[in-house]
Amino acid sequence: MTLLEIFPSLRGAMTPRMDPALWPISTRHDQRGRVCIGDVALEDIADQYGTPTYVVDESDVRHRCRTYREIFPDSEIVYAGKALMIRAMAKWVSEEGLGVDVCSAGELSIALAGGVDPSRIILHGNAKTVAELRAAARAGVGRIVIDSPSEAALLASVCTGPQKVLIRVTPGIDIHGHKAVSTGIVDQKFGLPAFSEELERTVAVVNRAANLQLIGLHCHLGSQITDPEYFRTAVATMIAQMNDIRRAHNLILTELDLGGGHGIAYRPGDSQLDLTRLACVIEESLDDACIRNRFPRPEIVLEPGRAIAARAGVTLYRVQNIKTVSGGRTFVSVDGGMSDNPRVSLYGSTYDVELVNRHSNAPVREVTVAGRHCESGDEIAVGTKLPADLHVGDLLGIPCTGAYHHSMASTYNSVCRPPVIAVLGGIARPLIRRESIDDLLAREVGM
Ligand code: LLP
Repeated sequence: MTLLEIFPSLRGAMTPRMDPALWPISTRHDQRGRVCIGDVALEDIADQYGTPTYVVDESDVRHRCRTYREIFPDSEIVYAGKALMIRAMAKWVSEEGLGVDVCSAGELSIALAGGVDPSRIILHGNAKTVAELRAAARAGVGRIVIDSPSEAALLASVCTGPQKVLIRVTPGIDIHGHKAVSTGIVDQKFGLPAFSEELERTVAVVNRAANLQLIGLHCHLGSQITDPEYFRTAVATMIAQMNDIRRAHNLILTELDLGGGHGIAYRPGDSQLDLTRLACVIEESLDDACIRNRFPRPEIVLEPGRAIAARAGVTLYRVQNIKTVSGGRTFVSVDGGMSDNPRVSLYGSTYDVELVNRHSNAPVREVTVAGRHCESGDEIAVGTKLPADLHVGDLLGIPCTGAYHHSMASTYNSVCRPPVIAVLGGIARPLIRRESIDDLLAREVGM
């Protein structure tokens, strides 16, 4: 008999601790060494719902929301729904006192279906259609963020009642992140450059429209920002811009929306944005800029998406195939890949991987976890360490997959999209069912 068989409780002490910076807040090991989230063994979820599957820890989402509200008690926190937009998320975040930002009619409908108070919804987008503007105005969304002078005119023509608006401004800040998600610089499609003639023209159009009320400005610097100092520069520029608008239009804007982009860790040791430091930076820079410009302090709005949703999510894959290419790497191929996680190929993102259905004392070896799709670049984790006794049928968990995974999933290779399963207090419940081949065929209406 082994020591573990005599004292099964020792198992917890001997299993490695999952990195709390990456794994959901409720992650534990059970007596058998299996990883559990929300007191449900991930293996049981895989057995019941199949793989690949996205698991979402409700308590983690609520914990992130509460942390924001504690650290930023005087700011309005608005969850950026694009990270993970499903009714349950909308419900959880609004129960925790957050608003929701949406950027399409689809996201708007899901937020409303999740019970979000329309006045706490912000509509974004650089190419909103007339139908989307109309739907948002009719629903009574709190704010619509205007992206151009022509959109301001269009919105004025579709609103039947008064509508509060913000204007999106690019403060000219380069966060030196991935080009695809650097939105604070001037030469990209979102917003209007600070102190520009086009911005001035947009303010004038809004001011002339009797039904539009300009209450503030918005900026979003980009994603995965880990240095809070970028926000200091943003606050300084935005308050100076608000001061310019006061001078030119005799209008005092009362709201400054600083967008999201709060960086998180994806791998052990990655840096993440320290929210307490961010709060200090915003506070100091706001004091500073408001005194310098003699401008009344506006309300601050923050729009975190990833920092609310990412760490709540774990993707489960079943190992389908293990092979070592002579003179090359060992590939562990799993039953999902770039269709459920396009972030590796799009942004070169890296991920941590863990064996979650059992505890192994075997030495680790370096492998590449590869997806199932028909591209050699479909690799989920390169040079990751997994136990040498890993075998076909084992279950792998990839943390930090709660944001921009379900929302960016595709049916590439006609692979059906995974379900989303929520866990809380020992109960797993499906939020989104697995897509079926019948679903795929049902959209085929001609031949
Ligand atoms: N507010 C606005 C106006 C945004 O455009 C975004 C993200 C956010 C807030 C939230 O940013 P977050 O806190 O989640 O970084 N697909 C990419 C991310 C694109 C984000 C686009 N906008 C990824 O998977 O990394």
